[in-house]
Amino acid sequence: MATLKDQLTVNLLKEEQSPQNKITVVGVGAVGMACAISILSKDLADELALADVTEDKLKGETMALQHGSLVLRTPKIVSGKDCHVTANSTLVIITAGPRQQEGESRLHLVQRHVNFFTFIIPNVVKYSPNCKVLIVSNPVDILTYVAWKISGFPKNRVIGSGCHLDSARFRYLMGERLGVHPSSCQGWVLGEHGDSSVSVWSEVNVAGVSLKSLHPNLGTDADKEQWKEVHKQMVDSAYEVIELKGYRSWAIGLSVADLAESMMKNLRRVHPISTMIKGPYGIKDDVFLSVPCILGQNGISDVVKVTLTPEEEARLKKSTDTRWGIQKELQF
Ligand code: 2OP
Repeated sequence: MATLKDQLTVNLLKEEQSPQNKITVVGVGAVGMACAISILSKDLADELALADVTEDKLKGETMALQHGSLVLRTPKIVSGKDCHVTANSTLVIITAGPRQQEGESRLHLVQRHVNFFTFIIPNVVKYSPNCKVLIVSNPVDILTYVAWKISGFPKNRVIGSGCHLDSARFRYLMGERLGVHPSSCQGWVLGEHGDSSVSVWSEVNVAGVSLKSLHPNLGTDADKEQWKEVHKQMVDSAYEVIELKGYRSWAIGLSVADLAESMMKNLRRVHPISTMIKGPYGIKDDVFLSVPCILGQNGISDVVKVTLTPEEEARLKKSTDTRWGIQKELQF
């Protein structure tokens, strides 16, 4: 007896087609779900997969997204505890990882993340050997290094979300002071995502007009307008969001979707994201840090050489040395 579907349609394809533009988000916590909804709202994928070990939450979040299908343009939203669900991804975004426990040292937390990565990354590689991996879990720069090492992928395909969000925060705060939209405020925050990031005051401009040339004390203690506060506010506001609402989500989700767009559409836009550069700025160790990178379908194809002042370069070097100190103790 023919089913209603068989009566309605004639099937011309014998086999199910593989997705062409699949994105997987690993981790359905607040960050993972903010990434998922931001990606869906930009129509970047023909399939979105969610992977996590907490089954009820995973199923509930998946259903909540699937119920929005009528107004979305991503025809397939799937999820699973088994890594098989990630198969054939173009891009895999890792947002998962253990939470810091009370009294737990940063190094101990990093080591627990590493243990999780030794499970997840080989599975990502197994099911999507040609994908790009975007690491969002913190500490993002160290974990991008760990993912790169474990995956065996070329470095262009293992990327950390890095200072893309720090730069967005900086440009928002700069825009608030100047009354200009953040997209017209050019400012780059480089180095480590978070506490020791470096704002490149020498390059800050609007319409190519250097703020430093108009206001030579920009970013220094001698500055009467205390623009240095913009950097401090940028670093502090990330903590403030946690204090106020308990976790961070929307800004990182939007930031990740912006990076995903550059890769899925091969836009070759320049973003401050975490990659491994050895050589420039006196960096000799295998550390990942944010520099302006050209991002497209192959991941990071090129790194833009930024001219830093000796002071900016010294700060960048100091932050990488601190990270290397933690990194070299890790066991995996
Ligand atoms: C942030 O700064 C998620 O680390 C990320 O909001």
